[in-house]
Amino acid sequence: MKKLFFLIVVSLSSLASNARERVCFDNDWKFILGDSAQMASPEYNDSHWRTLNVPHDWAIEGDFHDSNPSGASGGALPGGIGWYRKTFVIPSFPQLSSRVSPQLSSRVSPSLSSRAQSRDLLPLLYLEFDGVYMNSTVFINGHKVGTRPYGYSSFEYDITPYVHEGKNVVAVRVDNSDQPNSRWYSGCGIYRHVWLTKTHPIHIKHWGVYVHNGKVEVDYINPTNQRVTVVNELLDANGKVLARQSSQPSPLSSRATSRDLLNAEGKKRSIKQWCCENPYVYKVRTQLIVSGQVVDEVETTTGFRDFTFNPKTGFWLNGKNFKLNGVCEHHDFGCLGSALNEDALHRKLTKLKAMGVNAIRCSHNPPAPELLNMCDTMGIIVMDESFDMWRRRKTQNDYARFFDEWHERDLTDLVLRDRNHPSVLMWSIGNEVLEQWSDAKADTLTLEQANLILNAGHDASTLAKEGELSVNSLLTRHLAEIIKRYDTTRPITAGCNEVNPNNHLFKSGAIDIIGFNYHHQMVKDFPKNFPDKPMIFSESVSALQTRGFYTMPSDSIYRAPKQWWLPYTDPTFMCSAYDNMSASWGSTHEETWDVVKNTPYVGGQFIWTGFDYIGEPTPYGFPARSSYFGVIDLAGFPKDSYYMYQSEWTDKPMLHLFPHWNWRPGQTIDLWAYYNQADEVELFINGVSQGVKSKLPSRATPGDLSTSVEMTVGKDVSSRAQSRDLCTPYHVSWRVAFAPGEITAVSRKNGKVICTQTIRTAGAPDHIRLSIDYQGKTTTFITVEVVDKDGNLCPWAENQIEFSTTGGAKILGTDNGCQTSMERFQAPRRKAFFGKCMVVVGLSSRATPSPLSSRAQSRDLIEIPTLHAESIDLLPSSIEF
Ligand code: GAL
Repeated sequence: MKKLFFLIVVSLSSLASNARERVCFDNDWKFILGDSAQMASPEYNDSHWRTLNVPHDWAIEGDFHDSNPSGASGGALPGGIGWYRKTFVIPSFPQLSSRVSPQLSSRVSPSLSSRAQSRDLLPLLYLEFDGVYMNSTVFINGHKVGTRPYGYSSFEYDITPYVHEGKNVVAVRVDNSDQPNSRWYSGCGIYRHVWLTKTHPIHIKHWGVYVHNGKVEVDYINPTNQRVTVVNELLDANGKVLARQSSQPSPLSSRATSRDLLNAEGKKRSIKQWCCENPYVYKVRTQLIVSGQVVDEVETTTGFRDFTFNPKTGFWLNGKNFKLNGVCEHHDFGCLGSALNEDALHRKLTKLKAMGVNAIRCSHNPPAPELLNMCDTMGIIVMDESFDMWRRRKTQNDYARFFDEWHERDLTDLVLRDRNHPSVLMWSIGNEVLEQWSDAKADTLTLEQANLILNAGHDASTLAKEGELSVNSLLTRHLAEIIKRYDTTRPITAGCNEVNPNNHLFKSGAIDIIGFNYHHQMVKDFPKNFPDKPMIFSESVSALQTRGFYTMPSDSIYRAPKQWWLPYTDPTFMCSAYDNMSASWGSTHEETWDVVKNTPYVGGQFIWTGFDYIGEPTPYGFPARSSYFGVIDLAGFPKDSYYMYQSEWTDKPMLHLFPHWNWRPGQTIDLWAYYNQADEVELFINGVSQGVKSKLPSRATPGDLSTSVEMTVGKDVSSRAQSRDLCTPYHVSWRVAFAPGEITAVSRKNGKVICTQTIRTAGAPDHIRLSIDYQGKTTTFITVEVVDKDGNLCPWAENQIEFSTTGGAKILGTDNGCQTSMERFQAPRRKAFFGKCMVVVGLSSRATPSPLSSRAQSRDLIEIPTLHAESIDLLPSSIEF
C-alpha cells in the first residue's frame, strides 16, 4: 500500500496547478484471466490477482496448441477474457486559482458526485489507452465509462464525473474470446501504454491541435465562455522560438486558426526540411491564455516537407526523386508478443534502416504512437493504414461485425491522432477488402466459399459497371471523405489485389494513389489502365524463407502453394533461404525489385514483410505458427535476402557470401554472393579460384517489363540461367563441389579489393558464444551461437540451451526463428536453430542498476559463461528515441 501511495502522490502531485499534466499510468495493475461482472466493482477483492505493469500481452505467455481457437493463422496461442484493475488515490481537489467565472455546466449528471457540481472550476481527469486488444470495457468505481471494440484504436475517457477524493478503482474487461478474429497474431490485453491526464476546465481537446505547413488549427473546450487567447510558437530542435502568433481573445469560440507561422519569406527559406537522411523535426507550442494566465499548453511535433506521387515519374520528396523502399510490418515483437516495448521497436526500425528501408506500411491497422514518433526522428516514411476488412469479413469474428457502427469513429480517431507526424505521407483506407468486388451470392455462402469467390473465382460480373457507382464505390468515397474532413494534406490509397480499373474501390475516384498488392506482371499495363494516376506496390513479394535452410538447385523457383486455395506440404516445414521460393500470388525478391527499379512510374514498394511475425505460416499449417515471409526472422536474425536489399538500397560497401560451408563431401552446392560498389567477385575454395563473376547488367530499357531475372519455376535447372552463368542483375553464383576447408569471396572495383568474406567448415560444437545484438534502455537482445573450438558457427547445431541471469535482470523471452518451434516464448531455454538463438533480457523497472550477468549453457556442451557483468552497460545514454 505504501508503494501505491507513493505512485499516486507522484502522479497527481500538481493537481493544484493549472498546467496540463500527463503521467504514465502503466504500473501496478492487477490481472486475472477469467470473467465475472463483480470484477468491475470497487469493493471486489483482487488481492490474489497477479500484479503487473502494462503494456501486457497474456497470449504470449501461453502454449502453442492446435486447439487454440485463433488457429495457426493467429499464432495458435490462447485468447479468452481477462480483467485488469488498478487502485489509485486522488488527494484533495483544490480550487483552481484562475479567475474563471463560476457558471456551472449541466453536462454531467449531478447525482454522480459533488465534484460534478463544481466541474467547471476544478481540474478534469482523462484516462487514455493507446490500444487494448480487443473489445475493452472500462469501469471507474463500478461505473461503465465506455467500450471500444477495435483493438488497434487509441481512445480516452473523461473520468472526472466518476472519481472522488481518496481511493478509486479502474477496471478494464478485455474480451478476445470470439475467435478467429484476425488473420495474424493480435495478442491479448492492454498491450500499449495507458496515460492519466489532468487539465484545466478550459483546455485543448484531445488531438485538438492540427499543424500543417506552418498553420495551426486549435480546437479547445471553453465551458464558461471565457475570453481565451490562443498562442502558437514554432520551436526548432534546440527549443529556440522561431515564430509566434496569438489570436484575438475570444469569449465564444472553441477553435482558433493561426496564419502561417512562417509567413515571412526569409523564415521559409531558412527552414530545414524533413527528409529520410536528415529528418529535422520542429515543435509547435500551443497555449491557451485566460486573463493573462496560461491555463493549458500542448507541444506538437511537426516537420516541413514537400512530396508528390507523380503518374510518370513516381515519388518525389523535397524535389528529389527516389523509390519508397518499404516493408509491411505487423505489430508483434516475436517472443515479446504484441506488448509494446520501445527497445524492441527501435531495434526493429534500426535493423530495417540498416537494410536500406526508408518506408513502413503499418499493416493493416493503426500503429502504436511510439512507432510514428520513432519514424519522425529516424526519417522513415509511413503509410498509415486503418482496416483489413470493411463490411465483409475475412475471419468469422473479425472487425466486420463492428464496422457499420464504429468505422467512422475509428477512422476519425486515427487521422486526428496521427495527422501531425511528418513521417506519415499517406493514409490507407483498407487492405484487400472484399468490397473490391461485389457478388450478391457471397452474402449467403460460408466464409470460405465467399472468400474463394471474391478473391479468386471472381469474374467480370463482380467488377464495377460503366456509368454506375456501386454501393462499394460509395463506401470507398465515404471513407475517403472522413479522412479529408480532418486532413487534406496527404493522398489516400488502399492495398488492392484486384488491379483491374473496374475494381469498385478504384472506380469510386476516391483513391489518389493506386495501390497494387502483388501483380508485378501487370505493371506494364498500368499507364493504359490508369492514365494520370500514380502507383505504388502497397504490398509485394511474399517470398518464403527459413533462415539457414537451402533448397537446390538454387536457380529453380518454387511457388508454394501453387494456388492460394490449395494445400502445400513438405515434411521439413521449411522454405528455401535462397531467393527462390515464393507464394503463388507473389514473387521472389529479385523479380519484384527488378520491376520497381526499372519502371519510373512505380513510386516504390512495401515488401511483405520486413520481420517475420507470429501467425499466418503460409504455405504450411500447424505446427507451423509464424510466418516465412520476413526478410528478417522472428528472432531478428537477417535472412540472406536482407543483403540483396542492402546491396541495392545502400551505398556502404558490402559483400554477403552464402550459404555456410558444412556439407557432405562432393555434394553439389550453389554459392551466391550479393555485393555493391564493386565490378566483380572472385570465389576461392581452399585457395583455388573458382572464377570471377559479375552481376548481369540491369535492364537497359526502362519500362521493358519482360523479366530479366531469369529462373525456372519447378525443379528443373533453367538452361537459360545456366547459359547466363548462374548470375542475375542482383547476385552472382557458382555451382561447386563441397570440399571441407574454407571459401573466400573477394569483391573488387577497378582491380582494387573492396570487401572479402571467408567461411570455414566448422568442427564439432564446442562452446556457446554470447554477443549483444541490440542494447536498449531496459531491454537487451543477446545473440547466442553454438561454435566450434575455433569460434566457427556450427550451422547444423540444434543444442538445447538453458539461460539464467543475476543482478535484477529477467529473461523476457527466447527465440530462434524456427517457425515450428513449440517451445514457450517465455521459457528460459531454447534450442539452437541452424546454430543460433536469441535471448531477450530485461531490467525490471524497480531493480537497482546493478551488474547483470547472463549465462547460457547446454548440457551437451562445456558450460562457458562468456558474458559477464562488466560487459553490459545497463543504462546506455546513447539510445535516444
Ligand atoms: C496479402 C495480405 C497480407 C498477407 C499476405 C501474405 O494478400 O494482404 O495480409 O496475408 O497476403 O502473402
